Amino acid sequence: MAEPNGKTVLVTGSTDGVGRVVAKRLGEGGWRVLVHGRDRERGERLVAEIKAAGGAAQFLAADFSALADVRRLAAAVRRATDRLDLLINNAGIGGGGPQGTRQESADGYELRFAVNYLSGFLLTHLLLPLLEASAPARIVNVSSLGQQPIDFDDVMLTRDYSGMRAYRQSKLAQILFTLDLARALDGTGVTVNALHPATFMDTKMVREFGTPRSTVAEGADAILKLAASPELEGRSGLYFNGLHEARADAQAYDPQARQRLKTLSLELAGLAPAITG
Ligand SMILES: NC(=O)c1ccc[n+]([C@@H]2O[C@H](COP(=O)([O-])OP(=O)(O)OC[C@H]3O[C@@H](n4cnc5c(N)ncnc54)[C@H](OP(=O)(O)O)[C@@H]3O)[C@@H](O)[C@H]2O)c1
Repeated sequence: MAEPNGKTVLVTGSTDGVGRVVAKRLGEGGWRVLVHGRDRERGERLVAEIKAAGGAAQFLAADFSALADVRRLAAAVRRATDRLDLLINNAGIGGGGPQGTRQESADGYELRFAVNYLSGFLLTHLLLPLLEASAPARIVNVSSLGQQPIDFDDVMLTRDYSGMRAYRQSKLAQILFTLDLARALDGTGVTVNALHPATFMDTKMVREFGTPRSTVAEGADAILKLAASPELEGRSGLYFNGLHEARADAQAYDPQARQRLKTLSLELAGLAPAITG
């Protein structure tokens, strides 16, 4: 039976894939788990599994293709808990298969940029006060080895669209955000790191365009290392490829690019007056 450790985690996109395994393992390890996804039935099924193993969990629904839903999720998290020790920004959509055509979010943004990056950017900012109040706390951004520099002249990819390009841009945006936020959070006791969990894990995102090459358990191990290992205590602004520290695409280390993305993201997420004013 899980022995409660007094800590609470929110795992976005934990109704399926690697997020589901991570949430389950944290629940077994005594964490109170806030399970997130857009499918209530699958979310409640995971909650029941965590509870059956002696853990504590609750499902919170939100569709990340609408920023209003992200705001509702942040409010629901604040109602559900007075502490948040760990935020894992994992929810995402792939670039292949039938989803490979250009689509837009409810707010009119390119869908992969919105779901994979901007929703996590907004959610993180809205939950920062709770994380800071719970310090030491950690944020883990589940990115990918598939990275493509952001074209600031066409961030919404209105020209030469490809689903993989959109996916890779959104994944690199998460890393730029990670490095930028790590600096901003210096001294607060909240750390933020990003990673590529594993290559072609056996999840629906991969199955829609190719053959899986690694297991979801491998990816979960890598995420859990950044999330909870004592080795990572106090370490921030890092990018990991699986279990090992690595270098991301060069754009991640360009302060001007990071500043540009931050300014744009604050504006797109409707945070600009609150943060900079
Ligand atoms: N699979 C890989 O090999 C691989 C490699 C590198 C990085 N990653 C990253 O790992 C993370 C998890 O991927 P995965 O392979 O486990 O994918 P997955 O099995 O497709 O799971 C993705 C999760 O995100 C949720 N999600 C998708 N769109 C959403 C939306 N609009 N609103 C709210 N939740 C949404 C899904 O909910 P539904 O069940 O409702 O769709 C699901 O819970 C992603 O960020 C991905 O980029 C994966």
